[in-house]
Amino acid sequence: MVLLDKFGRPFLKLRIVVNDVCNFSCIFCHFEGQPRVVGPKLNADDYGFLAETLAKIGVYDFKLTGGEPLLRADIVDIVRRMKRGSVKISMTTNGFRLAELARELASAGLDRANVSLHVADPDKFSKVTNTPRGWYKRVLEGIDVAHQAGIDIKINAVILRGINDDGSSLKSLVKLASSVGASLQLIELMPVGSGAKIFNELYSPAENMIAHLLNMGARPMYTRKDLHNRPVFYVGGVKVEIVKNWNNPYFCAGCTTMRLTSDGKLKPCLYREPAADLYRPIKERNAEALIREVARVVYLREPTFKLSYSSL
Ligand code: 5AD
Repeated sequence: MVLLDKFGRPFLKLRIVVNDVCNFSCIFCHFEGQPRVVGPKLNADDYGFLAETLAKIGVYDFKLTGGEPLLRADIVDIVRRMKRGSVKISMTTNGFRLAELARELASAGLDRANVSLHVADPDKFSKVTNTPRGWYKRVLEGIDVAHQAGIDIKINAVILRGINDDGSSLKSLVKLASSVGASLQLIELMPVGSGAKIFNELYSPAENMIAHLLNMGARPMYTRKDLHNRPVFYVGGVKVEIVKNWNNPYFCAGCTTMRLTSDGKLKPCLYREPAADLYRPIKERNAEALIREVARVVYLREPTFKLSYSSL
């Protein structure tokens, strides 16, 4: 069974903020659209129950994010409890603790890590992330160990005007991705959280990167219909996905995701307020109440950016 919203979009994936602290301080961080410090947290058993229950309504795809998920002491346990059968677990991480934890994460069942590495230059990296210079190398090492451990690696890069939106920065990132066997995801800056403050100064449309890709001989291959209709290119053996999220009705039309805040609230979209509190049904192991609340929110789901007759 799968739940469809009023716009015919299936609910297939859940993005979960498992931690609200981070040891990086990226200049644009949207913090997944939630307040920085929130109330009580769910534990590994709670997340296991959540995954097991959502599988009953066809949700098999979970992305753990933060803050920084790997700063949670029980993160390996969370992955282990959630993983079963055909469930897919991925994680967005800054990569700082990846070298240390990758093998354990792999054996717990982590399928993929999206490592945020916005620019293949240690100086620019430390400016963008507000971290000491040596941390760039540490992240690279993390990627390497995770790749060796069999975890799929995707490099996430937020496109920033004058920092990484030129052709040569993109070439360096593609080269880096190729050398570590990773795919690359280029994400448009979103005006949320700290991103709102620097948006006017640093926003660069994804079209700039597509132009560079075409100059580099990239081939457009397909769009990911199950995930925001993202265009996918191949260049130099590297798969490159474009995340054009802002003001893009096609992005919303292909959205199959909802979000859980670190205190257990369900958000239908990054740009929307929580529409249900799942904390109690999760803690009380009340699968029926949990599914009822989720179904209610699926019914409320609406694309933030919609196609209109005037844009057809
Ligand atoms: N706009 C776009 N992407 C962002 N990320 C964090 N803040 C923003 C923003 N304002 C990125 C993170 C991570 C991914 C989940 O989103 O760097 O890679």
